[in-house]
Amino acid sequence: MSGTDTAFPITLTDGTTTRTREATPADLGPIQALHRRCSLGSRALRYHAGKSQLSSAGWRQLSDPGRGTTLVTTTAQRTDRIIAMTNVMRTDQQGVGELAVLVEDAWQSKGLGTALAAHAAEVARRAGHHTLTAAVAAGNAPMLHVLESLDAPPARATGPVLDIQIPL
Ligand SMILES: CC(C)(COP(=O)(O)OP(=O)(O)OC[C@H]1O[C@@H](n2cnc3c(N)ncnc32)[C@H](O)[C@@H]1OP(=O)(O)O)[C@@H](O)C(=O)NCCC(=O)NCCS
Repeated sequence: MSGTDTAFPITLTDGTTTRTREATPADLGPIQALHRRCSLGSRALRYHAGKSQLSSAGWRQLSDPGRGTTLVTTTAQRTDRIIAMTNVMRTDQQGVGELAVLVEDAWQSKGLGTALAAHAAEVARRAGHHTLTAAVAAGNAPMLHVLESLDAPPARATGPVLDIQIPL
């Protein structure tokens, strides 16, 4: 999957149609704009740190196919404006990918995170992974809800951040 012609379609609960495709290094500008439009709270839940932006070095890592798969989502109307980023990154354990999702605040609670997580699970299976992990803040009810939709087993509480393991 690369161009918008082969992008994965998701229709949100408000009827908006979206397109999700693999990221490229050239997405840096729209990805940084996404991060700037997100609240500090959303960025903190994604990165477990008070990150004010995503550095170009950080984006080089996330968009490096050798390190995993990063997907970007736009609406069907505005394909230059990224409204969500989904990462399935390799870990040091063979067959285990780490899932993270960031949906722009204005686009949250419309079913996008749930649909992206399901799509990411399929992408991970195709990449040969048998397990997805996710590090989720214990109070992050929306993300825990999203992971329940992937049949995540009860989380192991290891402090403020839960380590969720989802067999694929
Ligand atoms: C977590 C996140 C990816 C979810 O994306 P989203 O598009 O808002 O998710 P959805 O709309 O698909 O669904 C969220 C679900 O959580 C539920 N939810 C929302 N707020 C909730 C709350 N306070 N308590 C319980 N459930 C809640 C919604 O009802 C919805 O469930 P439903 O589909 O059964 O109605 C998004 O909120 C986000 O980017 N947050 C900031 C970054 C982050 O936390 N990333 C995860 C790091 S691993």
